Amino acid sequence: MNFASDNTSAATPEIMAAITAANEGAAMPYGKDPAMDRVRAKVREIFEAPEAEVYLVATGTAANALACAILTDPWGAIFCHRNAHIEEDECGAPEFYTGGSKLVLVEGAHARMTPDALRRAIAFTGRSGVHNVQRGMVSITNATEHGTVYSAAEVAALAAVAKGYGLPVHMDGARFTNALVAGNASPAEMTWRAGVDVLSFGGTKNGCMGVEAVVIFDPKRAWEFELRRKRGGHLFSKHRFLSAQMEAYLAEGLWLRLARHANAMAARLSQGIAALPGAALDHPTEANAVFARFARAGHRRAFDGGATYYLWPFDQPMDGPDEDPLSARLVASWSTTEADVDALLGLIRGRD
Ligand SMILES: Cc1ncc(COP(=O)(O)O)c(C=O)c1O
Repeated sequence: MNFASDNTSAATPEIMAAITAANEGAAMPYGKDPAMDRVRAKVREIFEAPEAEVYLVATGTAANALACAILTDPWGAIFCHRNAHIEEDECGAPEFYTGGSKLVLVEGAHARMTPDALRRAIAFTGRSGVHNVQRGMVSITNATEHGTVYSAAEVAALAAVAKGYGLPVHMDGARFTNALVAGNASPAEMTWRAGVDVLSFGGTKNGCMGVEAVVIFDPKRAWEFELRRKRGGHLFSKHRFLSAQMEAYLAEGLWLRLARHANAMAARLSQGIAALPGAALDHPTEANAVFARFARAGHRRAFDGGATYYLWPFDQPMDGPDEDPLSARLVASWSTTEADVDALLGLIRGRD
């Protein structure tokens, strides 16, 4: 019953089998392995983007920071939501990799920027000539840090604001597949057709061991990415093990099945919690994370019973009246079972 993060899940058997299968004989290093050619072709097919360039890195932070570095000048502003992972959880990597860009934070409920708030933030930046940072780029996270999802139309509306100012758009898709399967749009509609220039396309949180693809829809930006990836220490010599993971992930719809399952487990948990007396959702459950508040006594029973998850924010006291609600983040993954969800709900209810 570990709902702390989808990062707590193991890698899927298919991914581990692919890594083992790749561990035979010799393969050319640094992304010249034949599996990488197949990955590139598969990503181009999935995204209906024959020109796209595709690179693999091992962490989402590297994917995001390197993507930002090719989209903005060091004196550019990166417009992102106040709760964006690049703002709250990457230890300044985007600022570091871009050579000093400034993150400018945009408001919006449930970790979703609104087009108006984005427009205001962009309009306000760079008005004093040389004295200001200049307008650089926009970064959108999908699925968001609060478990919500932007539809393709919502992505397009944000991208239209960015393009109105001539700014490129990055998407942090550490949970792109969870967002994708939550709606009816195609991968192309969720990204380049909506105006996304570069996508960090996550694998690790959705069942891989450690691999993320960076999909660059405008190939003119690709060479700079290659140089920055190497210079930043993220070009793997035994790259075949990254390629093998991504190839298995995208084969036969595995990526989609894993995300559908994680989202379904989150929906089951969300419905169960929302039905508890006095409980409420802090954010709508649209992907694989549940943000909800319920009575302190329910948390005590859950933790005492062996459940793992985070109170969100962390600093809510466990001492206090039983009936007071505390907020939590509970994340489902490909490996969460219905039995896990029902066992947690039983502990929270305290009578199963
Ligand atoms: C939305 C989002 N983007 C990026 C990342 C970064 O991934 P990593 O921890 O692999 O650097 C995370 C990780 O939690 C995330 O939640």
